[in-house]
Formats: sequence, structure tokens, C-alpha cells
Amino acid sequence: MRLLVTGGAGYIGSHMVKLLGDKAYETLTVDNLSEGNPWAVLHGELRVVDLLNYKALEEVFLEFKPDAVIHFAAKVKVPESVKKPLLYYENNLLGTVNLLHAMQRSGTRYLVFSSTAAVYGIPENIPVKEEDPTNPINPYGWSKLFAERVIKDFSYASGLKYVILRYFNVAGADPEGKIGQVSKEPTHLILRAVKVATGQIPYMEVFGKDYPTHDGTGVRDYVHVVDLCEAHLKALDYLREGGKSDVFNVGYGRGYSVLEVIQKVKEVSGKDFEVRYAPRREGDPPALVADSGKAVKVLKWEPKYDDLGFIVKTALNWEIQSSKVSCYNIV
Ligand SMILES: NC(=O)c1ccc[n+]([C@@H]2O[C@H](COP(=O)([O-])OP(=O)(O)OC[C@H]3O[C@@H](n4cnc5c(N)ncnc54)[C@H](O)[C@@H]3O)[C@@H](O)[C@H]2O)c1
Repeated sequence: MRLLVTGGAGYIGSHMVKLLGDKAYETLTVDNLSEGNPWAVLHGELRVVDLLNYKALEEVFLEFKPDAVIHFAAKVKVPESVKKPLLYYENNLLGTVNLLHAMQRSGTRYLVFSSTAAVYGIPENIPVKEEDPTNPINPYGWSKLFAERVIKDFSYASGLKYVILRYFNVAGADPEGKIGQVSKEPTHLILRAVKVATGQIPYMEVFGKDYPTHDGTGVRDYVHVVDLCEAHLKALDYLREGGKSDVFNVGYGRGYSVLEVIQKVKEVSGKDFEVRYAPRREGDPPALVADSGKAVKVLKWEPKYDDLGFIVKTALNWEIQSSKVSCYNIV
């Protein structure tokens, strides 16, 4: 099976490409390297192409003629989306429209799309199910929800088969230590905390301590990046076996507060560090926890790393290793 991976030089995409390489898939990565890194693409070819450049994208599709696309490429930072909404709508929505055009031109039949728990906004029920109301509270979440809508409408008109995966909080790194999360301005909690634990950031900020949660800090469902990538493999098998287009949550169904995560990072690293409180960030809901029963049942997803300690350990190992090598060290 020939697979085109957009955003395959980024955090999750690079773990996906590595897994696809391990399973002997033929892959081609398309990434504009706005966030991604060429060294992170451990399998197949990388083409530096922007999804907003339709002509270049179409050329790649007509040449490679993929059977399926896994679409990770997007702008992903909630606070930035609040400040620069047009950037998010342009990149995430128009990028997806261009991708669907190119898929149509090359006759590509299957799509797995990276969506997000941010489409639920402030959920009415915890854990949240796929059929629960969607009502994003930031432009990032809206850009993903609109992209979902475009994919559904296009599928209806064209026969494209899709799986939309709504990820909760993705964290951790390749257990073999070959790749991990790199960000020019890290906003993800576990990534920031391991950077503090390794002395790259002086202290840890906690945004908001007055949320309606058990300790006042935000609660999230952290899923290991490799388990998440395995869900994509299951989604591809499901589509190839004739499964109907559908939407699935991907998380472990267990929430940890910001303070609990920080405590775990202190435990695993053996480092105590300073924690400072700051006001809530715009666009952050109090709690997001997945009901992923549907992915387990229908996609036969079998997560292996449902363990916050393991997630933190792999993130920390990667941080220690990558901060020693100058090409990785971006802080
Ligand atoms: N990290 C999470 O916790 C999380 C949670 C929910 C959903 N997601 C989704 O997963 C996907 C991957 O996220 P990530 O955390 O790996 O982010 P990332 O920024 O590391 O990866 C995104 C990649 O897409 C590339 N890209 C962005 N715009 C592009 C464009 N116009 N053309 C070509 N390439 C482009 C970037 O260079 C980068 O390599 C995103 O779609 C994101 O919305 C992530």
C-alpha cells in the first residue's frame, strides 16, 4: 500500500512514518518544514511542499499516486490560533481543501484525518463520546471541525472513504529514542515539564488554578504517541476491509490534572523544580477525557502504553538525548 503522509516531519507524523517503515509500507512525506524537521523522517522520501501550493501538491500526487493519505499537516497551537485565527483557517482548512482536490485528481481512495478533542469545546459529559455536541472554543478547534465537515461532504459527493480520529493530548516519544517531540515554542504540558526538569526552562507555569476540577487545574487525557499511531494503522486496515467512513476518539479514558502531571515528571526525573501560577489561557477548557470505546470495539485498537509514568519517561529520555545534540536543541 502506498501512503502519503502530510506533516510527516512533525511530532506525531514522524512517529507514524517510523511505524509505517517498520511495517514495510511505501511512504512519501509532504511537509513544508514550518515546524517539522527533515532528520525526523526515518523512512521513505520527504518532499518539502506546502499544502497551500496546490500546483506543487498536485504534481506530487500525480507522480506518487498514493492509495491512502494520512493528513497530519496543520497549525496546532491553541493560544496562537486565538491571536491569529486567519492563519489557522487558511492553513488547516484551505490546506485540507487542496489535499482533497489533489486526492481526487490522483484517484486516492482513503483518508485518515487528524482531528482533535478541541472540537468538543467544553464538553457536557466526561468522558466525551463521538456523538456528543461539538462546539469549539478556539479557532484551532473550529478549523479542525470545519475540515471534518469538508471531508464528510466531499466523501458523500465523491465516494472517498475516511476515518476521522479525534486525538486527546498526545505525549511521549519513540521508546527506542530515535525521535520525539521538538517545538520552537513548546506549549504542551509534558514537553514543557520535561524541559524544566532538564534545566532548559527555568520554572514551570500552571495556567489557571480555579477550574472546576478536583485540584483546580485543567484535566486532560494523555495518550502515548505510539499508541495513537497504532490507531492509524487500525484505521487503514478498517478502511481497506470495507469499513464505513466514521469518526473515533483516541485517548485512554483517564484524566490527569496539570498538578498530577507535574508531580509525575518530578518523580520520574528525580528533580524538584519551581512551579508558578499564571492566569488561565484563553481557549482552554477545564477537562477533556475521551470515551474511546468505539475505537477499541470497531477499529480493534489495542493500546499498550496506558501509563503516565511511561509516557513521561519516554519524553524525558528523548529530551535528555536530544538536548545534547545541537541540531535538536532549539530552546
Ligand atoms: N499534539 C497533540 O496533542 C494533538 C492533539 C490533537 C490533534 N493533533 C493533530 O495532530 C496533527 C499533528 O500534530 P503535531 O503535534 O505532530 O504537530 P507538529 O506541528 O509537530 O506537526 C505538524 C506538521 O505539519 C507541517 N505543516 C503545517 N502546515 C503545513 C502546510 N501548510 N503544508 C505542509 N506541511 C505543513 C509542519 O511543518 C509540521 O511538520 C495536527 O493535525 C494536530 O492538529 C495533535
